Amino acid sequence: MSREYWEARYQTGEMSWEKGAPSPGVVDFLAARPGLPRGTVCVPGCGTGHDVRAWAQAGFDAFGCDIAPSAIRLAKERTKAAGLTAQFQLADFLRDEPPFQFDWLFEHTLFCAIKPEERDNYVRAVLRWLKPDGQYLAVNYLIVEGGEGPPFPATRDELWQRFSPHFELAADWVPRSYPNRTGRERMFWWRRACPAQKAH
Ligand SMILES: C[S@@+](CC[C@H](N)C(=O)[O-])C[C@H]1O[C@@H](n2cnc3c(N)ncnc32)[C@H](O)[C@@H]1O
Repeated sequence: MSREYWEARYQTGEMSWEKGAPSPGVVDFLAARPGLPRGTVCVPGCGTGHDVRAWAQAGFDAFGCDIAPSAIRLAKERTKAAGLTAQFQLADFLRDEPPFQFDWLFEHTLFCAIKPEERDNYVRAVLRWLKPDGQYLAVNYLIVEGGEGPPFPATRDELWQRFSPHFELAADWVPRSYPNRTGRERMFWWRRACPAQKAH
């Protein structure tokens, strides 16, 4: 979907994804792992920045990008109001170059918002924005079949087929969710595999 499409969703307030809080799945992930080495994390399609602030609060150098100018404006305002530090940038995650490569990439409700025919570009973007030994954590909204998206259909099988050639799956599980998403989300924790390892 275009930048104009997403900006219009913010301008008209048609933001059904906006829950006023970070994904419960990432909150639990971070709380359960206080010893995780801190580093840089990118949240593409960060919306108003709830998840970016969760990572920042946990001590990571957090960076959010979004294609919609209003999302970035709101994310900056809310992060300042919360007294937290994070970087935000207007960017098309699928097409733009990253400012640098990140230790972590965290995704929440972006993959399902990308048209299936654009998802090869999504995978290429994850590989471009992440360090060669980086980790990719996702809260994926799973939909078997849909009407007119976004969100578009996304299944565990598709995610496996797209990401397993490039990553080792450390774990996947059903996370705690917002009330109206219970049972419809799955978290995937991928570690980037070096090509030599994958060959064996
Ligand atoms: C369904 S919303 C999810 C927002 C946020 N992750 C959340 O869960 O609250 C999808 C977001 O991705 C952004 N987006 C869509 N395509 C994008 C792209 N190519 N690059 C960066 N952001 C994109 C939209 O502007 C929107 O903010």
